Amino acid sequence: MKLADNKATLSFSNGTPSMELPVYQGNIGPDVIDIRKLYGQTGMFTYDPGFLSTASCQSAITYIDGDKGELLYRGYPIEQLATQCDFLETCHLLLYGDLPDAQKKTDFTKRVTMHTMVNEQMQFFLRGFRRDAHPMAVLTGLVGALSAFYHDSTDINNPEHREIAAIRLIAKMPTLVAMAYKYGVGQPYMYPRNDLSYAGNFLRMMFGTPCEDYQVNPVLERALDRIFILHADHEQNASTSTVRLCGSSGTNPFAAIAAGVACLWGPAHGGANEAALNMLGDIQKNGGVEKIGEFIKQAKDKNSGVKLMGFGHRVYKNYDPRAKLMQETCKEVLQEMGLENDPLFKLAMALEKIALEDDYFVQRKLYPNVDFYSGIVQRAIGIPVNLFTGIFSLARTVGWIAQLNEMISDPEYKIGRPRQLFTGSPPPPRP
Ligand code: ACO
Repeated sequence: MKLADNKATLSFSNGTPSMELPVYQGNIGPDVIDIRKLYGQTGMFTYDPGFLSTASCQSAITYIDGDKGELLYRGYPIEQLATQCDFLETCHLLLYGDLPDAQKKTDFTKRVTMHTMVNEQMQFFLRGFRRDAHPMAVLTGLVGALSAFYHDSTDINNPEHREIAAIRLIAKMPTLVAMAYKYGVGQPYMYPRNDLSYAGNFLRMMFGTPCEDYQVNPVLERALDRIFILHADHEQNASTSTVRLCGSSGTNPFAAIAAGVACLWGPAHGGANEAALNMLGDIQKNGGVEKIGEFIKQAKDKNSGVKLMGFGHRVYKNYDPRAKLMQETCKEVLQEMGLENDPLFKLAMALEKIALEDDYFVQRKLYPNVDFYSGIVQRAIGIPVNLFTGIFSLARTVGWIAQLNEMISDPEYKIGRPRQLFTGSPPPPRP
């Protein structure tokens, strides 16, 4: 870490001696004040629920400038990766720090595709679930269960174990998500086909059946690949922080990623695209475009409990750059599927336009996030709404594992253990 020239001074009004705190500079983005010695020297903690002002780690993987609406993976702008690279190249970049040349790409792709099958026992494990279980409930279980099947990659302190666990997770997530789907609809599982692309193989495992050949549609394949790239990593968000915190105890990578899947499920995080689509469906049912004004009014009323799902972001206070790319993909997919006049897409466009001009949203810098469009794209591809967050988990796995491995390799890493401001009862007075 690079020390800044200046220091921060913390002073107290009650006579406690003031304290100098070192300041570190990031390569880009805000500096951080190092408060590690604060408790030792003053007996006080900092208070920051929701980590609004706390950098929990140092990281060289992903950078977001929320005000500019900029997202970089290892220094590469998301727009460049989404338009010039595929998902496996992006995985290589996130995991190892460089975009692969042709040879490295071939080797990496081969390593991933050699691990796409899951242990045959997995399907018997899956059978224990109700068929109508939410796919995220199933997926949390399946990912956690990987540690019961792959004992040779569970030692988080062993770099070889970490590497093989990373490859296995990236390779097997599409298989597991597709299995969770097939189980729910009562169709036979489709084994992976290693001659297809990562996204193409997933489409076939989802929508193919043993009865006939499945032709991968290149427009849908590209759209899905882009969804994967756009969701691959996003700095220290809730699920990534969960993975880091969980992994900081030394637990195995599969267990740590299962914790990430569980966190992502929440509607304020990965569940937002499902929530956004459900919201559009509700507006459509209750009068469509005509009723947008009424809906916006509710979303602005704190007592209504209604939010404009797919709008707002903890970090982006500008247009989410992923939302722009997703809007482009959305148009392509709808055209390919002959759904240009899709009422939900039209409704989404109308809602976006009104919200972007409304004072409430403008003042609070609430812009559409990636989830606003990704739900429409996935629905057009034929992915059921309750699987959207599963697709997000599949894509984010590489980010989680890259962040986990970065943490374990960091000499400053410690078990994560936040402190608290205790507001409960003090011990009762002795009789
Ligand atoms: N609709 C209506 N009002 C909103 C919305 C929204 N979608 N989002 C924020 N606001 C309002 C808040 O009520 C608050 O108003 P106030 O200042 O008058 O009290 C203000 O905007 C600031 O919002 P916070 O909740 O403090 O912002 P925070 O950074 O904590 O939350 C979050 C961000 C959780 C994403 C929020 O905007 C939200 O719930 N959005 C809808 C869900 C969503 O789309 N989540 C996806 C996130 S992206 C992802 O996970 C890939």
